[in-house]
Amino acid sequence: MRPVSIDDSRSAATSLLITIDGPAGAGKTTVSRLLAEQLQYRYLDTGALYRSVAYSILINNIDFEDDAALTAHLKEFDLTHRADKNGFRLLWKDRDITDQIRTPEISMMASAVSAKPAVRNFLLGMQREMGNGKALVCEGRDMGTVIFPEADIKFFLDADPHVRACRRYKEMPPKTAVTLKDISRDMLQRDQNDSRRALAPLKPAGDAIRIDCTHIDPQAVVGQMMACIVSMLKNRSR
Ligand code: DC
Repeated sequence: MRPVSIDDSRSAATSLLITIDGPAGAGKTTVSRLLAEQLQYRYLDTGALYRSVAYSILINNIDFEDDAALTAHLKEFDLTHRADKNGFRLLWKDRDITDQIRTPEISMMASAVSAKPAVRNFLLGMQREMGNGKALVCEGRDMGTVIFPEADIKFFLDADPHVRACRRYKEMPPKTAVTLKDISRDMLQRDQNDSRRALAPLKPAGDAIRIDCTHIDPQAVVGQMMACIVSMLKNRSR
């Protein structure tokens, strides 16, 4: 069989909306970026939006369990974005916070605040607006189930929890005080928070294609995704 070429999918896949959901550390960001690059699509990392909300809540010392305080904070939440070669940069009150939102503390806070209906409703419109226009690969927890249920193709990426924790650990800056054990514990906690919450829990959409990437690298995952995209387009044109 002839291998799937980038041109196969690029020529036909001119304006698809592709969603990639999955738990923390499954490799969604790397894979989404690679896929977007290959297809020359835009890329949307929705976790970064939840992280930005978490960052602003921490900096402003907002009690996010207080619904009134949270709603008032979101009303004033001033987040903008601009495209760059890696997707987009996030500006909160005109300050670039793209790199500051990647700490373990913000990861846990993002997971906690993402269970709040006020936060999810607030970000729903922003995500749909940012995703408008197709030719997009977007990643998150509820892309295929809630935000873009009409997506052309949906993937759910997963991997063994220990492998996911090791991958995240390797991404930490050198001389970090964070241990593999810390990362494993936080990751399991986030898995639980994200999949057990009442609103838009982490779960594969009924029509999502599941890929287990425990033993395969990001390039191979992208290869599998491209094969699925080509096959979906062939079926559509029949
Ligand atoms: O993908 P990430 O690790 O950057 O996401 C941080 C947290 O944000 C995650 O633990 C849950 C939340 N999140 C969400 O609830 N829905 C999304 N679509 C993306 C992220």
